[in-house]
Amino acid sequence: MFRKITTLVATAALSVLVLSGAALAADPITIKFSHVVAENTPKGKMAVKFKDLIAERLGGKVVVEVFPNSQLFGDNKEIEAMLLGDVQLVAPALAKFERYTKQVQIYDLPFLFKDMAAVEKFQQSEKGQALLSSMESKGLVGLGYLHNGMKQLSCASPLRVPADAAGLKFRIMTSDVLAAQFQALNAVPLKKPFSEVFTLLQTKAIDGQENTYSNIYSKKFFEIQPYITESNHGVLDYMLVTSTEFWMSLPDDIRAEVKKALDEATLYGNEIAASQDLEDKQKIIDSKRTEIITLSDAERNQWIEAMKPVWLKFEDEIGKDLIDAAYQSNM
Ligand code: SIN
Repeated sequence: MFRKITTLVATAALSVLVLSGAALAADPITIKFSHVVAENTPKGKMAVKFKDLIAERLGGKVVVEVFPNSQLFGDNKEIEAMLLGDVQLVAPALAKFERYTKQVQIYDLPFLFKDMAAVEKFQQSEKGQALLSSMESKGLVGLGYLHNGMKQLSCASPLRVPADAAGLKFRIMTSDVLAAQFQALNAVPLKKPFSEVFTLLQTKAIDGQENTYSNIYSKKFFEIQPYITESNHGVLDYMLVTSTEFWMSLPDDIRAEVKKALDEATLYGNEIAASQDLEDKQKIIDSKRTEIITLSDAERNQWIEAMKPVWLKFEDEIGKDLIDAAYQSNM
């Protein structure tokens, strides 16, 4: 009898050891971070910083794998892929959330923010922060904003006044606000994935596009677009999002550490975004491949006048209160 009990206790102890050994050897949690831009951009650098911070602090427990340049999913698929659990983290441009929320379209309204300081001020405000949780009913958790910069217009022909854009085809991100913005110029907007822009420009399927200096430089659009109008007419920023399902599946302590690393990496990305914008603009100038057109105040006012009616068109969907609050961040 005594031997039987001893054997049972020994077997149980062994099982505990084997089980805890298995737990110790459990596979780390993998966070696949998919994005569409080059590695030498604010988002590309932020992603690598996040990966490094996680390796340093949660090595063995969590692994971040970064997939830049639409390697894994293009921008018309990445949110869907994340909701399906194929990737765990994405940071699409704010213009790409239209299917999930109408309010985030506020960031696409032309000439709403005068500069990145105003964008930052609004994003950090109560209303700006509330937008991060505006897609929870769709299973999306907004984990923070990441800057890129203000958008410029690149084109095959010089654009000085809105009439210069009439009849031309422009690639846009998947946003009805951006479509309305180009329609207001009597131009033709085409919603196309970022990964296709270079070829569309090269084959002259489109005449131009709008983007930040870092994207225009890193994706070599400047090599095939002879003119860039420094319009600063809108913002191109990102929202870091994950799925509620993945986020809530993380143990509390791990979730807190991941969020901390994400916040730090985002801060780093935001800090370098402004200098990257200037550096990439300078590299474009130095290349002598394209002319950067600076608008006079009178010319710029014409663009504002032509595009601003778009605000009214989307006021009901976005909310006048929200638009007013965003506008106030310019003060
Ligand atoms: C991005 O910066 O993530 C892509 C922007 C674009 O689609 O133009």
